[in-house]
Amino acid sequence: MEPLTTSEALEKPAIRIESHLGEAEERSLAEDVLDGLTRPFKELPPKHFYDSRGAELFDRICELPEYYPTRAERTILTQSADEIARLTAAVELVELGSGTAAKTRVLLDALHTAGTLRRYVPVDVTESMVRACARELTGEYPGLEVHGVIGDFERHLDRVPPATGPRIVAFLGGTIGNFPPGSRRRVLREIAHLLGPGDHLLMGTDLVKDPNVLEAAYDDAQGVTAEFNRNVLRVLNRELDADFDPDDFEHVALFDREHEWIEMRLRSRREHTTLVRELDLCVHFDAGEELRTEISAKFTPERLEGDLATAGLSLVRWLTDPDGLFALTLSRRAELS
Ligand code: SAH
Ligand code: TRP
Repeated sequence: MEPLTTSEALEKPAIRIESHLGEAEERSLAEDVLDGLTRPFKELPPKHFYDSRGAELFDRICELPEYYPTRAERTILTQSADEIARLTAAVELVELGSGTAAKTRVLLDALHTAGTLRRYVPVDVTESMVRACARELTGEYPGLEVHGVIGDFERHLDRVPPATGPRIVAFLGGTIGNFPPGSRRRVLREIAHLLGPGDHLLMGTDLVKDPNVLEAAYDDAQGVTAEFNRNVLRVLNRELDADFDPDDFEHVALFDREHEWIEMRLRSRREHTTLVRELDLCVHFDAGEELRTEISAKFTPERLEGDLATAGLSLVRWLTDPDGLFALTLSRRAELS
């Protein structure tokens, strides 16, 4: 092959985006809905919240006075980004559930300043966010390559490109807490397999605290979280030709003290039946019946370290904010270190 001329080399595209969503994804929504809405205790998995309206509402949640996790995690990142950059010497940052990558910039700044950063790999189910963030970040960080992966981090981790040097895999925002304990272990183990020797996982987890503080964070005074919760019904109306009236459902957020997780539910205000046309499915709701839409697990240091160990990970740094609200953990594959 001819060597690249300078101008061709300069034109090497800084952005590459691959989408792994398609028919299989639509099937996955249909299967999740059929499975979840025909159970004795109705349930929907949380990844279907994030269409473009859901993503916008989530952004607004992050700004709410009651929703402390985003601010606490940003504080920790700001305090520790230089240390993380030094410890990892990372040339690339892979981020699972990257969203708008707002807090990620703190880390990218530190890696950029340290002079090691070459590539950012955002992985998210929401196509518009991966594209927007690739565009913005290549503008903000000269020389940065962005390889976006539009996909489901439960199914497409094998599509994350091979490492080009020491990497950080970031999983921020407490998203790991949105999996029930069994899936959480499976997901963590799969994430651990993205790490080679010298690579690190940087994970954000919310910590157990006063239930009033927790419940307020998921049930804000302005009702943004309620709207976000009900948005999943609009997704079903659009994607599966269902006829939910979101106003038939009340937003519920409560802290389950036994499991130490927040549960988000939609409570039917009246007895009614909904039709999901694309699935030929009639779903009956009693008055007061609840549909579980999300859990958000809150961690203690012991439990978190246990979960990491089960996934073959060992803790390198435990980082928290001055109020001890939230934790960032830096860990690496135990058998490789
Ligand atoms: N990391 C950001 C956003 C957290 S919100 C922050 O800390 O603020 C969770 C993000 O994960 C959303 O952007 C959502 O689109 C994405 N997401 C949720 N489930 C997903 C899945 N199964 N696969 C890939 N992305 C997912
Ligand atoms: N990962 C976030 C969390 O568990 C997701 C989230 C925040 C969320 N607020 C929400 C999900 C409200 C559903 C509804 O904190």
